[in-house]
Amino acid sequence: MSSTVVTGIGELVTNDPTMGDGTILGTLRDAAFLVEDGKVAWIGSSKGAPSADQVIEASGKSVIPGFVDSHTHAVFGGDRVRDFVGRMTGEKYAAGGIKTTVAATREAGVDQLREHTAGIVGELRAGGITTFEIKSGYGLDVQSEAKILDVANEFTQEVTFLGAHVVPAEFASEREQYVSLVIGEMLDTCAPKAKWIDVFCDTGAFTPEESRRILDAGIARGLLPRLHGNQLGHTGGVELALEVDAASVDHCTYLSDEEIVALASSNTVATLLPGAEFSTRSPYPDARRLYARGAKVALATDCNPGTSFITSMPWVIATAVREMYFSPAQALHAATFGGAQALRRSDIGHLGMGARADFVILDAPSYEYLAYRPGAHLVSRVIAAV
Ligand code: NIG
Ligand code: FE
Repeated sequence: MSSTVVTGIGELVTNDPTMGDGTILGTLRDAAFLVEDGKVAWIGSSKGAPSADQVIEASGKSVIPGFVDSHTHAVFGGDRVRDFVGRMTGEKYAAGGIKTTVAATREAGVDQLREHTAGIVGELRAGGITTFEIKSGYGLDVQSEAKILDVANEFTQEVTFLGAHVVPAEFASEREQYVSLVIGEMLDTCAPKAKWIDVFCDTGAFTPEESRRILDAGIARGLLPRLHGNQLGHTGGVELALEVDAASVDHCTYLSDEEIVALASSNTVATLLPGAEFSTRSPYPDARRLYARGAKVALATDCNPGTSFITSMPWVIATAVREMYFSPAQALHAATFGGAQALRRSDIGHLGMGARADFVILDAPSYEYLAYRPGAHLVSRVIAAV
């Protein structure tokens, strides 16, 4: 059994409200913790820290749980910088741009996709993300969706089948046939390669009725549902997510009071993606409305080439604080514990007893600096289950 003690921690965020200051972040000062076989086995003050095989000295810095990014589209070919520049100079985002990435992703070989994904994953990790999800959705034919899922599985266990991202061009006048393909042959091939099923339920993508059929078919094959919803309007995604007990409904750019009340009494997490509002110049949702009702909230990067080519969770936190009215504490919680809830994981997203010891040492005395000093490289060490 290997053991490591992390000591001299100026501020330790555990996300365990029974610890330390008793807030949602469960923060301790002058703290230490012991890791045995990759799990937190003891938490207390630096003075009383036990000895261990290895010592990590935090030198008074802040230590936080590793970020959990519950929403990425990290496997893709090409880029969409022209779309981004267009939007910054007045064009509006529409789901149709996805087709550009589909063409580039179909063309890319597995080796090329793997190498590109490794670069993106390197960025995610360098910014303190210790667990991340990856979706397919830029293949939209059986072989290309399978290719994306195979690459995704090389990087994470949290893999999502998103064959229903949009209807591809070749099915434009036969959308019903595309839905049949997704719930038939595509699911046959892809279900064994994924844990989750997702649908882009929105204007220009899939209707709530189509989305329901696709989610149900995935659930019948043992996949767990999550959903892209309410990004482009009040388009029924939240209602559907709640009907199927989705782990999470993602974007939520537009939310009615009724939808927020319903979310609050459910197990479905509202995952907000500030990178998408930033990169599409859309209005940011106001997180205060969700917190006021007690809804579960996550923050994620939505890393994708079309609407959020963002890999930095510190940037997501800073933007969520500035533009979505998260408090710094809520934003950190949503990017760690909230992300874990959105993946229905209780072993990550916190540093309470028994948690996986995935953590980040910040080059700052407090996590609040993540929002206070946007753009500074505050993630000094990222440690995953030592
Ligand atoms: O999460 N909204 C749907 N899917 C992606 C965007 C895909 C794209 O435009 O390439 C998203 O924003
Ligand atoms: Fe997305």
